Amino acid sequence: YHVTWDVEAASKGGYDHFMEKEIHEQPKGIKETLERRLDDQGNIKLDSINISKEDLDGINKVYIVACGTAYNAGLLGKYAIEKFVKVPVICDIASEFRYSDPFVDENTLLILVSQSGETADTLAALRDSKAKGARILSITNVVGSSIARESDDVFYTWAGPEIAVASTKAYTTQIISLYMVALDFAIKKGTITEEFYKEMIAKMKELPDKIEEVLSNEEHIKELAKTVSGKEDAFYLGRGVDYNLAMEGSLKLKEISYIHSEAFAAGELKHGTIALIEEGTPVIAIATQEALFEKMVSNMEEVRARGAYVIAIAQNHNTTVEKASDKVIYIPNSDDILSPILAVIPMQLLAYHVSKLRGCDVDKPRNLAKSVTVE
Ligand code: G6P
Repeated sequence: YHVTWDVEAASKGGYDHFMEKEIHEQPKGIKETLERRLDDQGNIKLDSINISKEDLDGINKVYIVACGTAYNAGLLGKYAIEKFVKVPVICDIASEFRYSDPFVDENTLLILVSQSGETADTLAALRDSKAKGARILSITNVVGSSIARESDDVFYTWAGPEIAVASTKAYTTQIISLYMVALDFAIKKGTITEEFYKEMIAKMKELPDKIEEVLSNEEHIKELAKTVSGKEDAFYLGRGVDYNLAMEGSLKLKEISYIHSEAFAAGELKHGTIALIEEGTPVIAIATQEALFEKMVSNMEEVRARGAYVIAIAQNHNTTVEKASDKVIYIPNSDDILSPILAVIPMQLLAYHVSKLRGCDVDKPRNLAKSVTVE
């Protein structure tokens, strides 16, 4: 008598794929990333990062440089830093940045975002900028990685090991990390009030439970996946941070299901994109931004009038979205800047179930690698 024990199956913790397991680990990842860095008073303590108010006063621009999903997280970081810290931020793709002769000098803070800490282009951006005197802060998931070792300051995303090629929990913990950095810098510089700072931290602490709520809706998303799985094209629309989120939703779908998908800023629709809409084309329309909600509803109506099958993602209280869409995925109400962390979950689940239905290799999609260590 002997027991056959599959190590890989065991490490998937009962899930069919690592990606599914990692999607479900996000409440824990965010909790760890956040709460390990809150002191007894509930204030953010950025580990060993030692950027003082004087250092911040000497910084006149910030670059956020990364690849792939980490770049998409960086776009949200740019939004938060500009909004809270009131300093201009340029977010660039590492392979473009390194050959673009960027404005990097001693007054520049370079923030690198990398799950693995080993991506060749991101590492090259680090080395070039360091040589020009920039201060280097990295946000990475791997302790002792090349990027962590060569940076001046490191902030670890406590996501735990990410095995699936398509990044999920690294993305959400990267966003939380960037927001924490932004809040810490802003309170030091005095560009936000103590009250706002406390309120944001309190709202961030609510995210793990809210993500659980979104995850409990998986059956509904599985149903929607059946419609999308038979299509050859899909489009993702959003405005403001929802546009950046659309980029990540679209990337998830294309990388693991091989469905052609693109993300567009909803306001750009009429400048070309709308020509692509045909009868039954799935359009995932993200409408979590309160101030832009009505604009998004109009964009949904526009594409729907041309035959699109609209799947909307909206906050619970915005039920008027139903008049402009075929299906709605609701997320719990939250702050505008935090909503993306909730809205990305159904898009990850959608990509996952579509990939599974199409019989693709979910965890190891063709032609892709988890970490790109050569140029
Ligand atoms: C590869 C992976 C992506 C990842 C990107 C950047 O393309 O497949 O999931 O986002 O590299 O990787 P990094 O480790 O630097 O975050």
